[in-house]
Parts: sequence; C-alpha cells; structure tokens
Amino acid sequence: MESVLFEPIDINGMVVPNRFVRSATNDRLAEVSGHVNDPFIAVYEKLAAGGVGLIVTGHAYVQWNGKASATMMGGHDDDLIPGMKKLVETVHRYDSKIVLQINHAGRQTASAVLGESAVAPSPVHISLYDETPRELTGEEIEELIENFAATTRRAVAAGFDGVQLHGAHGYLISQFISPYTNRREDAWGGSLENRMRFPLEVLRRVREEVGASYPVLIKLNSEDYLEGGLTIEEGSQIARALSENGIDAIEISGGTYESPNAAAKIGIKEEEDEAYFLPNARKFREVIDVPLILVGGLRTPRLMVRLVEDGEADMVSLCRPFIREPDLVNRWEGGDELKAECISCGGCHKYRDEPVRCIVLD
Ligand SMILES: Cc1cc2nc3c(=O)[nH]c(=O)nc-3n(C[C@H](O)[C@H](O)[C@H](O)COP(=O)(O)O)c2cc1C
Ligand code: SF4
Repeated sequence: MESVLFEPIDINGMVVPNRFVRSATNDRLAEVSGHVNDPFIAVYEKLAAGGVGLIVTGHAYVQWNGKASATMMGGHDDDLIPGMKKLVETVHRYDSKIVLQINHAGRQTASAVLGESAVAPSPVHISLYDETPRELTGEEIEELIENFAATTRRAVAAGFDGVQLHGAHGYLISQFISPYTNRREDAWGGSLENRMRFPLEVLRRVREEVGASYPVLIKLNSEDYLEGGLTIEEGSQIARALSENGIDAIEISGGTYESPNAAAKIGIKEEEDEAYFLPNARKFREVIDVPLILVGGLRTPRLMVRLVEDGEADMVSLCRPFIREPDLVNRWEGGDELKAECISCGGCHKYRDEPVRCIVLD
C-alpha cells in the first residue's frame, strides 16, 4: 500500500517514519514497583517490529499517589531509568520512535491501590470507587508540577524520543481543566483561565527542564460528555493556549471514567462509526497550528488515508487494533488493505487485574 500514511513526519525534530501512532495503552504488565520487565518490553518490541512509526507507552505515574492500577509503569523514581533505557533501546533497534506518556491519576484510582486517599483538585465523589478524594493543597500542586518535570528529565535520561502529557480521560490534568471536577476557588479553579493554569504550568516547567528542542506532546480531552463537564468550546480554547505556549503536537480524545462509552467506544462496526472524535478535531484544527493526532475507532485504512490527505489529521492513532494485531502496519504496507480485525468489543478493558490481551483470540 503506497500512501500518505507511509510518509515521514517531523515533530520538533523527532522524525517519525510513518503516520501511525500506537495510542498509549496501559498493558498492565509492569512490576508493582513500576519497573518494566521482559514481558513488558516484548510487547513494545512486537509493535516496533510490526511497523508502528510512533509508540506511546501506557501512562506512567509521576509520583506514587498518581498510580491508577497495580501493574502500570512508573516514572516517579531515578531507579526506573535502567529499565526504561532497555525498553527504548529495544524499540530503537527498529525504525520506530517511542514517547513516554506521563500522568497522575488524581481521583481516578482507588485507595486500595494507593494505601491512602486519592488526591484531586476538589473533593468530588467518584461512584466507580465509591470514594471521595482529598483536595490538593497549593503546595502539593506546586510539587506535582515539579514531578511532571522530574519524570520528563528521567525520560530524557532513558533516551525516549519525547514525552506525552496525559491530559485526557478524566485523570489529573483533565480533572483540573474540567468544571465538573475542579470546583476550586483559588488561582487553580473557577474561570477557564484558572482551570487551564495547571496544564500550562506543567508545560512551562517541563520546557524549562528540557529546553525548546525536546518533543513534548499532549493527549487532550476535547470534551467530557458529562453534564457540567468540559465542553468542546472550552476544550478548543485550551488546545489553542497549549499550541501557543510550546506544545509540539496534540492527540485529541474525550470522555472520562464517568462518561458512558466515550474514549474507547465499543461496537464500531461500520466505517461511519469510526473516527468518532473527528467533529471535535475539526474544531481543534481551526485554532491550533501544531500537528494533530486523531485517535478513536480508526479501523479502515482507506478512511485514514483520506483523513491525512484531506488535512483533517497529521497522524492516525490506534490502541485496540494493535492489541489484537501488533503487526497491522506491516500488513497494510504489504498490500493487505482489509480493515483491522479488532471488533471493538471492549474485552481487553474487562479484566483490570490481568495483563491486557485480546480476549477474542483466547
Ligand atoms: C486496555 C486499554 C488501555 C488503555 N490505556 C491508556 C493509557 O495508558 N493512556 C491513554 O491515554 N489512553 C489509554 N487507553 C485509551 C486508548 O489509548 C485510546 O484512546 C482508545 O482506546 C480509543 O482508541 P481505539 O479505538 O483505537 O482503541 C487505553 C485503552 C485500552 C483499551
Ligand atoms: S478484546 Fe480484542 S477484539 Fe475486543 S476490543 Fe480488545 S482487541 Fe479488539
């Protein structure tokens, strides 16, 4: 298959050989300490060997109380660097780039995972865990910003090609920008300007740490699909501010744990069901001037060609299809243009205490 999808793209000096992104996927394979291990690295080796141009890791927590699940990767400690290095070196044996997704779970975690209460911009109850998080103090917010910067420093030391801030799906950054989860009355809450202060401060500190030439991306909620939550109008204004303040690319997403069937929609059957964030991506496109990465239900290669050819997106990003077929990009490049085999059943999200796998293949 010869197409625009196999043309390289330069994101602030990171030259990605094609337009395919493996969207961040918490493979639930790391050690409880946050260290990556051989089974974890094997997943990434398959993706790189399978032709994915840009691999985004699953979210890695920037400090201990930002952990969302027991066996996710950590980014919070210098002693994680040797394992990360091994991961990066493995991927770099192929023609792929790898970016570390950095995150703090905020209220989207359980006290059973942390051994203490979760923290959040405001104490808004979350029914999924039937818990109410503790409100962050101003001092703790400053410390968090420092820890996003410290994790980025570790990413550089390990050789990652860049970092992606996780500003989507109801985790901490997403909690700050959303009026549903941010009810603060200080400088970090209230007006849109105050709610976007946290991601902008994280970006500023991260930039200070790594300089202008290191790729810093963000995955950003365009809207929450929740009453009282982030709207696309506000989401677009945040995207614009990030674009004006030095972010290098934006991956557009949406939804939180509390919004029904949003980020990883189930039941994508027809081509019309695919690219479900495209209407919002068009709004982002009007106000940003950095590369736009589109995720959400992409399954059919001719649709992805059209999206990139028409300038609707610069890169296409997939998660579940690569769980089922890590060699999907090579399959398409080899001329087999049948759509991804993933049926979007949601099975890989079901067994949250087990490593991620395609249950249809069991
Ligand atoms: C098992 C699983 C784990 C995921 N882990 C992450 C993650 O760590 N970070 C993130 O930003 N999104 C995560 N997502 C969301 C995906 O990256 C993606 O946004 C969503 O699944 C829609 O893309 P798709 O239709 O190609 O699967 C995860 C999704 C699944 C199914
Ligand atoms: S279980 Fe398999 S088919 Fe179902 S969504 Fe996950 S990868 Fe796709």
